[in-house]
Amino acid sequence: VALQHSEMLVSLCINIVVSVAGAGAVVRTIPAVSEMFINAGLFGRDLCKQDRTTKVPESMGMVSGSVYLIIMFLFLGVPFGQHFIQPSTPFPHAAFAEYLTSLLSICCMLFLGFADDVLNLKWRYKLVLPTLASLPLLMVYYINLGSTTVVVPKPLRQWMGMTLNIGLLYYIYMSMLAVFCTNAINIYAGINGLECGQAIVIGASIVVFNLVELGGYQAESHYFSLCIIIPFIASSLGLFYYNRYPARAFVGDTFTYFAGMTFAVVAIIGHFSKTVLLFFLPQIFNFLYSVPQLFHFVPCPRHRLPTYNQRIDKLEPSVAKFKVKEIKKPLLIVLRLLANLGFVNFEESLGEDGEMCQVNNLTLINLMLIKLGPQHESSLTNKLLMLQVLSSGLAFFIRYPLADMFF
Ligand code: UD1
Ligand code: MG
Repeated sequence: VALQHSEMLVSLCINIVVSVAGAGAVVRTIPAVSEMFINAGLFGRDLCKQDRTTKVPESMGMVSGSVYLIIMFLFLGVPFGQHFIQPSTPFPHAAFAEYLTSLLSICCMLFLGFADDVLNLKWRYKLVLPTLASLPLLMVYYINLGSTTVVVPKPLRQWMGMTLNIGLLYYIYMSMLAVFCTNAINIYAGINGLECGQAIVIGASIVVFNLVELGGYQAESHYFSLCIIIPFIASSLGLFYYNRYPARAFVGDTFTYFAGMTFAVVAIIGHFSKTVLLFFLPQIFNFLYSVPQLFHFVPCPRHRLPTYNQRIDKLEPSVAKFKVKEIKKPLLIVLRLLANLGFVNFEESLGEDGEMCQVNNLTLINLMLIKLGPQHESSLTNKLLMLQVLSSGLAFFIRYPLADMFF
């Protein structure tokens, strides 16, 4: 059932109105429940501050996530309710199933993120759970769209043809996308406002992309994506109000997983996962840069966020210290090479016996501090968010002029 443009416009306007109300609800609810969360043991210490005794309520993504779901449940009546008023038009069961399973997957991730905050899950669960949460979505994808073909880039077409059906691989790719989106946001974190801020910038980039594509032949899936992302941005803005420097609330893994899954959902159902990944450029870089620590080739402390230097009230790169013997020879060579290229700070022959060495914790946040020198926390967050905006600009450049050359 093709939707009329006017219908889309009306329901998007209602979506925006409900979203703004939702943002207001988040802003009002967080201070009201902060005490309750702290009493339940859900709090963290702000590690980049002089005073580390204050309890900052954690898992506030639960508030923005719950408000988000309420907005979506209320909004559902708008695009689908008209079919009860005008029963002559057939009810769009397929689209309805897509909406519901999208919310189911998002809701699952919110729940699992909260479980992680409370129970501190092991890494393997962090990888398995998003895969499972994406299953209902993949099932609906299979039933409704089922397209597992990818467009072959122009230079390869003489051998492979216009499109290539990759079948099952496509489903594996989609569930890995859910794992990647959730974890990539979660490990690009640790300074006030960054978790929430990056999600807002990525969300806004998706909105711009959807608006551009709304005139195209896939209008309906971009409209669907807008309906899901706009309330997400609004509820996250409410959360950002408390999470920005100096943080009065932490978002928790509840939020990072919820945000990642929301992006994965629109990427999958909207069939524009490559574009969504382009909006994740800083996260992809941060992930690749983190690989030696994530896979424990280099020791990885519990927290990799920058170190606070009280004297100058600024953040400096944090380091991991270990014995040279602890890491494999080839990796030592890689670290030396990266140090020469200016990508890491690597110091050897430390300690009394000269056997110790140290490397900065391999995160984009620390790399930024190496390049720019010590920064104040709020200005570091602003710069990293600016980088996110600039890389979205680059993403649009790759998506349009460049991609047109290859596809
Ligand atoms: C991920 C990162 C970890 C980073 C942490 C910070 C990896 C593999 N894991 O772990 O290195 O230290 O996120 O969120 O890269 N916190 C602050 N200021 C902030 C945000 C968080 O001090 O602006 C601290 C608080 O103590 C808070 C805690 O980080 O309680 C939350 O950490 P959590 O989200 O549980 O860490 P992970 O996601 O496991
Ligand atoms: Mg986290």
